[in-house]
Amino acid sequence: MSNRLEGQVAWISGGASGIGEATVRLFAREGAAVVIADVTDGQSIAAEINSHGGNAIYTACDVSDNNSVAESINAAIERFGGLNIVINCAGVVHVGLLHEYSEADWDTLMGVNVKGIFFSLKHAFPHLSANERSYMVNVGSISSHIGQRLTPAYTTSKGAVLSLTQSIALDYAAAGLRCNCVCPGITDTPMLRHHLNTTPDPEETLRQRVRRVPINRAIQPNEVARTILYLSCEDSAAVNGTSLVIDGGYLAAAEWDTADD
Ligand SMILES: NC(=O)c1ccc[n+]([C@@H]2O[C@H](COP(=O)([O-])OP(=O)(O)OC[C@H]3O[C@@H](n4cnc5c(N)ncnc54)[C@H](O)[C@@H]3O)[C@@H](O)[C@H]2O)c1
Repeated sequence: MSNRLEGQVAWISGGASGIGEATVRLFAREGAAVVIADVTDGQSIAAEINSHGGNAIYTACDVSDNNSVAESINAAIERFGGLNIVINCAGVVHVGLLHEYSEADWDTLMGVNVKGIFFSLKHAFPHLSANERSYMVNVGSISSHIGQRLTPAYTTSKGAVLSLTQSIALDYAAAGLRCNCVCPGITDTPMLRHHLNTTPDPEETLRQRVRRVPINRAIQPNEVARTILYLSCEDSAAVNGTSLVIDGGYLAAAEWDTADD
């Protein structure tokens, strides 16, 4: 442990599972006080961190709801007295052809993946701006950069995550806020497992999917969390408005099949 986040307070949406949970645990090990903001109960994660001498709270928070985000951020301020880091990791995916979507399918996904970032900035900025330096990291995807089949709203939302990241990076740099995004590839989380479990042979589906990845394996949540950490401290002091791809080389290749090696 290097205590890179000693004295920092981090609000992490989607912190009860997958990449968000890995980030919560890593940030706590690095000395940050962490707020898990999620619709999924994260109390046991917070309790475990606290029992090991860390500092964590869970707040029930729906990032697509303006009041819910305001309340969660207020709870963070009440408990820890300030806020330095916002990680927007909450995300949902909807699989289907666009013409079969309902309006609610579209709106729900955009509400979580895109509007949630707007709400977090809206309510966090008054507190972030009290610091000389502050950090926002948004979780995009390889689909911030490319299209993917059968997930039109998701790919659109992740493209928007990158655009929003760039806009925030410009508009708030003078206030000391650096905003970046990470773009994970195929990452082994409950979201991925849920998706794989809709196929007849989940392990075979995963094997087929990672054949497209030059390092020939799925990315681990902690590998994404470490990149989020880099963007949430002065190790990345001059990095602003960028997208950092963590995909094992997926986007580097127009075509790839590890079976050809
Ligand atoms: N797993 C992958 O392969 C992959 C790849 C690229 C990007 N991502 C992105 O990484 C992020 C984390 O995904 P994950 O794979 O860890 O999935 P996950 O399902 O394990 O975690 C997502 C978390 O977001 C929370 N969440 C969902 N809706 C919410 C809402 N309205 N308000 C608050 N929290 C909400 C869920 O409860 C869950 O805890 C997402 O933004 C996802 O799009 C994942």
